[in-house]
Amino acid sequence: MRVVVTGAAGFIGSHVAEALAGAGHEVLAVDAPARSLAPEAARRRWAGLAEVPGVTPIETDLAEDDLAKLGEADTVVHLAGRPGIRSSWGAGRAVVRRDNVLATRRLLAACAERRPRVVVASSSSVYGSAGHRPHREDDPLAPASPYAESKAEVERLTRCAVRDGLPAVVLRYFSVYGPRQRPDMAFHRFVEAALDGRPLPVFGDGRGSRSFTHVRDVVRATVAAAETDLPPGVAINIGGTDPVPVRAAIGLITGALGVEARTHSEDPVAGDAERTWADTGRAARLLGWRAEIGLADGLRDQIAWHRSLRAEGAR
Ligand SMILES: NC(=O)c1ccc[n+]([C@@H]2O[C@H](COP(=O)([O-])OP(=O)(O)OC[C@H]3O[C@@H](n4cnc5c(N)ncnc54)[C@H](O)[C@@H]3O)[C@@H](O)[C@H]2O)c1
Repeated sequence: MRVVVTGAAGFIGSHVAEALAGAGHEVLAVDAPARSLAPEAARRRWAGLAEVPGVTPIETDLAEDDLAKLGEADTVVHLAGRPGIRSSWGAGRAVVRRDNVLATRRLLAACAERRPRVVVASSSSVYGSAGHRPHREDDPLAPASPYAESKAEVERLTRCAVRDGLPAVVLRYFSVYGPRQRPDMAFHRFVEAALDGRPLPVFGDGRGSRSFTHVRDVVRATVAAAETDLPPGVAINIGGTDPVPVRAAIGLITGALGVEARTHSEDPVAGDAERTWADTGRAARLLGWRAEIGLADGLRDQIAWHRSLRAEGAR
């Protein structure tokens, strides 16, 4: 199968592109690393992808460049975009409109004629905060930040394309972590601080909780979606654990590193959910997927990656 992976220089996209190539697919990797929230890390992953057999990297800005070629694939896995709630406020609002909404609108238009299977990345943030039960995919959306609003709009655009005959589906990822995690994300910041001997920077009081999901589990779900005929327009939660308090995750990190759990509190991020919680029944039914990697094991995996980066002098 010829598969386009957008956002292939990204944290999740680089793993997905490698896994699809490893499964024998011909992968066209698409990214514009300069558009990344962390361009240096993106350029490093992009250079790494060029070495992977079966992957052809093509630098393309989805918001500007000609995308006609991308619509000729059998499957398009659309992971490109500007992630992150914090950076989406202020000037970030225009960035998420461009790299999430406009980029997706253009990509879907490029797919309109040949109608490849399309898998679109969305986010748990479209739900807002969870109450006393996990979020199900048919729950009403309550986006509370420009980022979450942009993802809700990406989903709406996808549903419109489905009405026009495109076999597209949406995966809602929940707090992904593991090797290559973006430098702005909590676990990345925690591990780096702990390895430096600094207090860990915690937004707010650290009482919030998350359905954390290891990137290898996310890759398995995404590859399964890329290889399966799913009901067009369906949204599927891809979430790992039941909600784990951020403070408990900090305990696991500092415990694994054998350091004292010293933290300092930073202002809470507006629009950040107090709790995310994934109901994954639909993922189990449609993809035969459930998360397999527990948080303690997964964090050890991420810590080993941070150590390897330091050993290479590439932090
Ligand atoms: N990491 C998570 O926890 C998480 C959770 C929910 C949803 N998501 C979504 O999953 C996707 C991947 O997330 P990630 O953490 O790997 O992010 P990432 O920033 O590491 O990867 C996104 C990639 O998209 C590229 N990109 C941005 N704008 C582009 C454009 N106009 N044209 C081409 N490429 C462009 C960037 O250069 C970057 O390499 C994103 O859509 C994100 O919103 C991620």
